[in-house]
Amino acid sequence: MLEKLMRRKTAETNVSLPEQIALVKSRKIPAHVAIIMDGNGRWAKKRNLPRIAGHHEGMKTVRKITRVANDLGIKVLTLYAFSTENWKRPKMEIDFLMKLPGEFLSTYLPELIEQNVKVEMIGNFNVLPDHTKKAIQRAMEATASNDGMTLNFAMNYGSRLELIECVKEIANQAANGEIDVSDIDESFIDSHLMTAHLPEPDLLIRTSGEVRLSNFMLWQLAYAEFSFTDVLWPDFDEQCMLNEIREFQSRSRRFGNVERDGDV
Ligand code: FPP
Repeated sequence: MLEKLMRRKTAETNVSLPEQIALVKSRKIPAHVAIIMDGNGRWAKKRNLPRIAGHHEGMKTVRKITRVANDLGIKVLTLYAFSTENWKRPKMEIDFLMKLPGEFLSTYLPELIEQNVKVEMIGNFNVLPDHTKKAIQRAMEATASNDGMTLNFAMNYGSRLELIECVKEIANQAANGEIDVSDIDESFIDSHLMTAHLPEPDLLIRTSGEVRLSNFMLWQLAYAEFSFTDVLWPDFDEQCMLNEIREFQSRSRRFGNVERDGDV
């Protein structure tokens, strides 16, 4: 009852962000939120700007959403920053996207450290340009002992490639007699994925109105709640994130069971 009243109050009056955060935090928070950050190009086009201007603005959104996610007590925030398919884009755009981790991390690393955020990455690291690798490596090292939220960049990530690598590794182990085929179950596969050390995502958000997964965490998202919003990534702000978490809190997750999980 109190919650219903508070929800109405939040909707009807100008409740400050910290008050809203406190209210949202009083209910179950998703441990892992994964976001497909989409719409940078359209955001730029609407303003007659080059696509890279949209990506640059999108980088600022990464900062905002990292901060609010951390404030909310989300344990892992995975952001799809560059897919294995994004190499098909014009070279100039790829070069720009590869420079963004460097710019982001050199600008915001001190505040990530101050917020106790740990930077990690999933994806094929080896083929990234040296300057991109260096920036990510430096941030990962500088934040390795932080035990607050994990900010996990999916960079040169593709779920099918991840699954192919996983299958190859398991097949080799079986061929070498290190494992028995009967050892292969869900947790065994989990342990061979790039996300082995992370909880599986509870919530997937995709911005910009597109309704597809684009080769993102196909195995890991099996039981996640999905939310697709029309907001373009550069316009996605703290209020949008809070609305998404509230929407998640209103869902009834059943994990294949008939019982409704009243909490979330
Ligand atoms: C998709 O939008 C977005 C990307 C491929 C890049 C996402 C990258 C960022 C938001 C910045 C990342 C920041 C860091 C720190 C790594 P789109 O270009 O496909 O948009 P469109 O569909 O409107 O053309």
